[in-house]
Amino acid sequence: MLGRFFQPLSRAAMSSAPSKPLAVRERLSEVRYEIRGELARRARELEAQGRKLIKLNIGNPGAFGFRAPEHLQRAIADDMGRTDPYTHQQGLPAAREAVAAWYAARNTPDAHPDRVFIGNGVSELIDLSLRALLNPGDEVLVPSPDYPLWSAATILNDGRPVYYQCSASNGFLPDPSEMETLVSSRTRAIVLINPNNPTGATYPRELLRRIVAIAAKHRLLLLVDEIYDQVLYDGATFEPLAPLAGEVPCITFSGLSKVHRACGWRVGWALLSGSAELITPLQHAMDLLGALRLCANVPGQYAVEAALNGPDTISALCAADGRLYETRRAVIEACAASEHLALCAPAGALYAFPAVVGDAARGFDDYQFALELMEDEGVLVVPGSSFNVPYRNHFRVTLLPDAVSMREVFARIDRALARRAEANTKVVSLKPRSRPAAA
Ligand SMILES: Cc1ncc(COP(=O)(O)O)c(C=O)c1O
Repeated sequence: MLGRFFQPLSRAAMSSAPSKPLAVRERLSEVRYEIRGELARRARELEAQGRKLIKLNIGNPGAFGFRAPEHLQRAIADDMGRTDPYTHQQGLPAAREAVAAWYAARNTPDAHPDRVFIGNGVSELIDLSLRALLNPGDEVLVPSPDYPLWSAATILNDGRPVYYQCSASNGFLPDPSEMETLVSSRTRAIVLINPNNPTGATYPRELLRRIVAIAAKHRLLLLVDEIYDQVLYDGATFEPLAPLAGEVPCITFSGLSKVHRACGWRVGWALLSGSAELITPLQHAMDLLGALRLCANVPGQYAVEAALNGPDTISALCAADGRLYETRRAVIEACAASEHLALCAPAGALYAFPAVVGDAARGFDDYQFALELMEDEGVLVVPGSSFNVPYRNHFRVTLLPDAVSMREVFARIDRALARRAEANTKVVSLKPRSRPAAA
């Protein structure tokens, strides 16, 4: 009897249906995420054909032999039997208490577990907070270059990213005066990424104070992505924004993915700070959106307390002789030795963002170069234009491979750039010289 209702549509009936492909959300055409885009797809094809590639496109510590610290692994294993139920939509109380205590100890005002949201990585919380904040046409000031999820999440939540430049000539730091000229009646928030992905810049206190003043003056929310807060090199210091923001509404984002090398566990947190009167409606909106997705992945939440209260496992990797330090040194030295590259040395985070300069830079297209580099030299990098910049002569590498592999990578990059430079000089010398005008 039921069969009568569940007959699959016959082929004949299908063929009479219109053959147009399903339409997808239009604004997706404005969104880029080249870190895992076309080049990464081509890399998989090459690997399927047996090519061995060195892939530097994703800041994924586990893929480069790093492990999450043992005390975090143990924390999850010990509590596995308790991870079956959903948690509260904002996250496990013990995890939220640990996050609140961590930030309270670092002078974030009113850091309270009620103001903490645990999510499936910072990624989910970026989307959730912008969804809670934006109405169609609202604007968000986003750094250029940015970590492209910030632009994508703004666009997909009906907002408009407005870019403030962080140029290499200024150490990849923003100019607050320029930033303020971009504020309009539609601006709702300023995004900061500190330490920065992709540039590695760390923002000094005075600069942050000036940005807080802009937010206060124009009643804007500060959204600060501090996921690399403890990944610092050569004495660089990190200034958390929330203590400087004080009563100005602010959301601080961080998590287990980078400092604790546990990307795959998908654990991030967001802490709201600032005047209760100003921020409470946003807190309620985020709580509602959090409830709609029930809760974040539970097992990883059991590692938060251990991560924040346990031993420091990142500083040694970033200090002299540490694995990340040595790889960063290899990149700095390779760029300094190359006539085709210029680098503003990263002070923090897990990336370098070199510029191609000189003869190789003439007519340079970063995407085309990344494709050629992969096909010819077996190295996958991310073109700079993937990070929403108006120029096309940069690329990003992650600092996660060991120093020996990184030296090999830069030897190959230099080889590819030398070929380009030579081709460019040939083109110039082949161009017919303009004849002197007849006497
Ligand atoms: C600046 C920045 N924010 C957020 C994320 C996403 O982090 P999560 O793994 O917590 O989603 C990344 C990942 O690379 C990042 O670089």
